[in-house]
Amino acid sequence: KIYPVILCGGSGTRLWPRSRRVKPKPFLPLLGDRTLFQQALDRVSNAELFEAPIVVAGEAHTSFIAEQAGEHRLVVEPAAKNTAPAIALTARLLPRDAVMLVCPSDHHIADEAAFLDGVRTAASLAREGYLVSFGIAPDRPATGYGYIKRGEAVGAGHRIERFVEKPDMERAQQFLDDGGFVWNGGIFAFPAGKLLDELATHRPDMAEAVEASAASGRWVDTRFDPGAAAFARIAGESVDFAVMENTSHAAVVSADIGWSDIGDWSALMEARQVDEDGNVLSGRTDAMDCRGVMVDTDGPRVSIVGLTDVIVVVDGDDILVLSRDHAQSVGKLDGAANQ
Ligand code: GDD
Ligand code: MG
Repeated sequence: KIYPVILCGGSGTRLWPRSRRVKPKPFLPLLGDRTLFQQALDRVSNAELFEAPIVVAGEAHTSFIAEQAGEHRLVVEPAAKNTAPAIALTARLLPRDAVMLVCPSDHHIADEAAFLDGVRTAASLAREGYLVSFGIAPDRPATGYGYIKRGEAVGAGHRIERFVEKPDMERAQQFLDDGGFVWNGGIFAFPAGKLLDELATHRPDMAEAVEASAASGRWVDTRFDPGAAAFARIAGESVDFAVMENTSHAAVVSADIGWSDIGDWSALMEARQVDEDGNVLSGRTDAMDCRGVMVDTDGPRVSIVGLTDVIVVVDGDDILVLSRDHAQSVGKLDGAANQ
């Protein structure tokens, strides 16, 4: 069976003011009435395919996890060190031959059946020793994703010829024009032992500190606390930079799963149900002669007239009024940066 590892971290500042450092994106019901974290758990709830999931998160978020999902095996990070340490630490707690399915909790997946098919395909490649990424067909030169050049066919996937994490705009455009690239979906199937071996090869210092913090950590019931002194020595880095860009044992499976990382308000709007005028209206909203407008208010009534391609978000004392084509910039606002 497959071991799901649910990663909860990050701040999701581009979805400010709804997403805030004190309660970031994974713990919000942004699509439907389950939160993204709950949806990530729901996707791996098939007991024939999956072991019980392990959640990896910071202390500050453990109360949300308990509140939203009850009791789970939980690895608690003393500090946020990005994804490579979170994944490696969890790998170290599993049998070496275990296949782990790394699941971000900041995504939306519309086609769950296709997701499960992808999981089966990825797991069979992982059992052969590959570090497997889920590849998403790109539709624009986004700079916030990893780009994967597909090589020769292997099993039901392809070997990864090149992995480039977060290229600049010029290179992203080149990759798109080239045609042989897919985005890294951020979902991975890793053989636990192989992931640790690759980390030891490419980031020996990190691997050593992860090992020491695992060895000096302890389980109390379902909660694992890594040794704090060793953990503090770990240099924070994502698994994409630390491992995926460097390993030569990686493969990619294509995942046509209705994936969106809902990275900003515009992407979230696209993932929501649009009415016949192209609007997404919720809460107390009065919209007259508007098109392509989203209003999301947690209380105050919002009345808008004659607007096109505008997003309005009300959260407590904060009001965001956003032109849809500027959604990427929200994280740079004072309110989002200094919340
Ligand atoms: N536990 C834990 N600790 N989780 C973390 C941490 C951490 O320190 N940092 C990030 N995470 C979680 C986030 O909550 C998210 O669910 C997942 O790990 C990925 O982290 P992001 O910070 O959102 O990564 P990204 O979006 O910039 O890039 C990754 O995802 C893209 C697809 O959305 C990369 O894998 C890219 O290559 C990929 O294209
Ligand atoms: Mg992300």
